[in-house]
Amino acid sequence: MAKPDPAANWPEHILFIGCGNMAGAMLLRWLDEGLPSERVTVIRPSGKAVAPGVTVGTSLENPVAPGTLVLLGFKPQQLGLVAQDIAPLIGEGTTLLSILAGVPLARLRTAFPRSGSIIRCMPNLPVRIGKGVSILAAGPDATDDPRGLAGALCARLGLVEWLADERLFDAATALSGCGPAFVYRFIDALAAAGADLGLDSAAAARMALATVEGAGLSASASGIDPRAMADAVASKGGMTRQGLDVLDQPDGLAPLIARTLRTARDRGVELAALSEKSS
Ligand SMILES: NC(=O)c1ccc[n+]([C@@H]2O[C@H](COP(=O)([O-])OP(=O)(O)OC[C@H]3O[C@@H](n4cnc5c(N)ncnc54)[C@H](OP(=O)(O)O)[C@@H]3O)[C@@H](O)[C@H]2O)c1
Repeated sequence: MAKPDPAANWPEHILFIGCGNMAGAMLLRWLDEGLPSERVTVIRPSGKAVAPGVTVGTSLENPVAPGTLVLLGFKPQQLGLVAQDIAPLIGEGTTLLSILAGVPLARLRTAFPRSGSIIRCMPNLPVRIGKGVSILAAGPDATDDPRGLAGALCARLGLVEWLADERLFDAATALSGCGPAFVYRFIDALAAAGADLGLDSAAAARMALATVEGAGLSASASGIDPRAMADAVASKGGMTRQGLDVLDQPDGLAPLIARTLRTARDRGVELAALSEKSS
C-alpha cells in the first residue's frame, strides 16, 4: 500500500509577512502537524530564524507565485506601510489570510487590490497546542477553494467558526480572542479564594489550574450543555449548590461576564476606528 504523502493537503507554499507571537504559534503548530518546512517562507524585519528548514527573509523582493497562501501576521497599524511595499508583488492565484485584529475585509481589499481571495481570521494563542479557536470570515469575492483551504488549515489549530456577518467579528474576538485571558483571571480568582480559606497558595494555584483544565476537557468530551452539567453535580442543599447560588445571583457571574465581553467588544470597535484614521 502506498504511504500517505505528508505534503498532501497543505498549500503549495505559505508566505508569512510578519511572524511574531501569534503567527509564530500558528506556524509551529502547522509544522508539528506535518507542514513541510520547505513550503514556508517568513518575512520579518529582524530576520530571526523561526524553525529548522523555514526560509526567513527581511523583505519581499519577488512576485509571489500563484498557489501561495500569504498570511498577514504583522501589527494592524503597519498595514498601510507594509501593503505599499508588498501589494504590487501579490497577484491573482494567491490567497490572503489576515490575522490583523480590527482590520475589515474591505480595507484589506483596498490595500491588496490584485490579490486572490481574502479571508479574515482571528485565532487565539491555544492554537499552539491545537486547542485554539479560529474565527473566519470571507469577502463576497472569495471562491470555494481558498475558503476550503483556510478552513482546513485552521482546523489543524483547533475549532473553526465561520462568521456569515463580518460585523460580528469584534463580538467573536471578545469571546474567543480575549477569552483565554478572562479564563486565566478566573483560575487566579479560584486559587486566591482557596488560599483565602487557608490552603497553601501554591497548592491552591495548582488545584485551580487542574480543576479548570479537567472541567473544560470533561465538558467538551461529554457534549452536554455546561449549564446542565453544573446542575447535575449540584444536589439540593449541598456545597456545590450553595456556591452556585452565589454565582447565579442577579449581580453574579453572568452579568459580570456580559459586561466584560461588551466592554472588550466596544474597545475592538474603537480601536478599529482609530487604526482606520491613522492608516
Ligand atoms: N497576540 C495575540 O494573541 C493575537 C491574537 C489574534 C490576532 N493577533 C494579531 O496578530 C498580529 C501580530 O500580533 P503579535 O502579537 O503576534 O505581534 P508580534 O509578536 O509583535 O509580531 C509582529 C510581527 O510583525 C513583524 N513585522 C514588524 N514590522 C514588519 C514589516 N514592516 N513587515 C513585515 N513584518 C513586520 C515582526 O517582525 P520581527 O519578528 O522581525 O520583529 C513580528 O514578526 C496582529 O495583527 C494582531 O492583531 C494577535
